[in-house]
Amino acid sequence: MTTKLKILDKNENIIKIVNLEEKDLITRSGREKSILDIMLDNDIDMFYGCMGGSCGACICDLENGGEFVEKEKIRPKVYKNVSEKEILTCIAGLKTPFKDNSEIVVKKKF
Ligand code: FES
Repeated sequence: MTTKLKILDKNENIIKIVNLEEKDLITRSGREKSILDIMLDNDIDMFYGCMGGSCGACICDLENGGEFVEKEKIRPKVYKNVSEKEILTCIAGLKTPFKDNSEIVVKKKF
C-alpha cells in the first residue's frame, strides 16, 4: 500500500506529489523519518532550525489527511504556538500501517 504526500506552496500551488511505501519511512540508520525528512529528501525547499519541535520554523498547514498523520511521532513538541490545523514537520510522521488510498496534503507557510 502507498500513501500520497501532496506538498503545496503558500499560494496552494502543487510543488510535488510524493508516493510513499512504508519502507520509505526508514533512514539507512534505521531511524524513522519525519515529514520534514521526506520533504527534504524530495528537494522541497523548507525552513527549519532545531529539528526537535522547539523553534517552530518548520511549521506547515495540514490541509488534508490529518487522520494519517501522527503529530508528535518523532518526539513531543516543545513549541506551543501550533493550532489543530498545523504541524511541526520535523516531529510529525506518517501513521503506519498505511491505509489504502490515503492522501496527506501539507501546505508550506513560507
Ligand atoms: S525545525 Fe524547529 S520545530 Fe521543526
